[in-house]
Amino acid sequence: MLNDASKTPLPPVCDYEGSNYRTDFWEGQGRDYEDRTERIALRRLLPPSGRRVVHLGAGFGRMTTGLGGYDQVIVLDYSRTMLREAQQFLGTGDRYIFVAANVYTLPLVDGCCDAAVMERVIHHLADVPAALREIRRVLAPNAAFVLEFASKRHFKAMVRYWLGRQDWSPFDRAPVEFVELNFDFHPAYMARCLQDAGFETRRRLALSYFRSGFLKRWVPVSLLVGLDRLVQPTGQIAPYSPSVFTLNTAAGDTPPAAPDGALFRCPDCGGTLRREHDVMSCEGCGARWAIRDGIYDFKEKLTGG
Ligand SMILES: C[S@@+](CC[C@H](N)C(=O)[O-])C[C@H]1O[C@@H](n2cnc3c(N)ncnc32)[C@H](O)[C@@H]1O
Repeated sequence: MLNDASKTPLPPVCDYEGSNYRTDFWEGQGRDYEDRTERIALRRLLPPSGRRVVHLGAGFGRMTTGLGGYDQVIVLDYSRTMLREAQQFLGTGDRYIFVAANVYTLPLVDGCCDAAVMERVIHHLADVPAALREIRRVLAPNAAFVLEFASKRHFKAMVRYWLGRQDWSPFDRAPVEFVELNFDFHPAYMARCLQDAGFETRRRLALSYFRSGFLKRWVPVSLLVGLDRLVQPTGQIAPYSPSVFTLNTAAGDTPPAAPDGALFRCPDCGGTLRREHDVMSCEGCGARWAIRDGIYDFKEKLTGG
């Protein structure tokens, strides 16, 4: 069994290995407004409980704490640094499964999850259709998928464009890569990609209209959060905010789950994995993957015998 990944080169990845994302971007960095409003959106969109949810590009687990109603949480990220921080942040209880992997080649069997969450990640993905197809593959029919994306069609971008201070148009549907591997998307482009990948978009929330240094300095954060909460639902018909949260459901069928209840499959070829101690070996292509310090590591395969 071969998947596309074994035949075509994968898109480049924005690698957070060694990054201080938690302390450089969140802790003490004046982003309580963003953090709190994203939690509100997640609570509004994600079914509160379920069997198994996968948190894709979970980082250090900031928003994973919002997945408390699920029996099992797969905390997945490409960066081992992030996953080690997530282990510290969340603890290593039985509910969490920490997985180092690429969202383009998920090491998960078809249809094994009944929910997925991905916020602040698609922003880094050069091939959105490929990533969404892969996410759809691991979801059971009707599973919920909460996806956040950074929108290019927001008021500030429009004003900058009209004043000639920005060369790209917020109305053009193609993604804009404003820094290497950092993309903003038109809501219509994202809607189309989700539909093509086999999702039905049910709800859309507009976030972060009040993300401004000036407002944050002069207006109490609780007031900004309250206002954001009020206007989030306008995203259903008019998403003109810099951040958009969507609730999508997996449409159509998914191949039946593995009869032996397996969770993992080989990310290279889709083959069955056999576990011996701390190594998983693929019965299809022979690739070997390590389990290290509580992390199932599918980032790089083991070399040598
Ligand atoms: C901006 S951080 C967001 C982290 C977390 N979602 C949050 O909001 O706090 C982006 C995360 O996506 C991960 N990431 C980027 N590309 C990825 C890929 N192709 N597969 C898996 N994770 C990826 C990075 O390692 C990083 O942890």
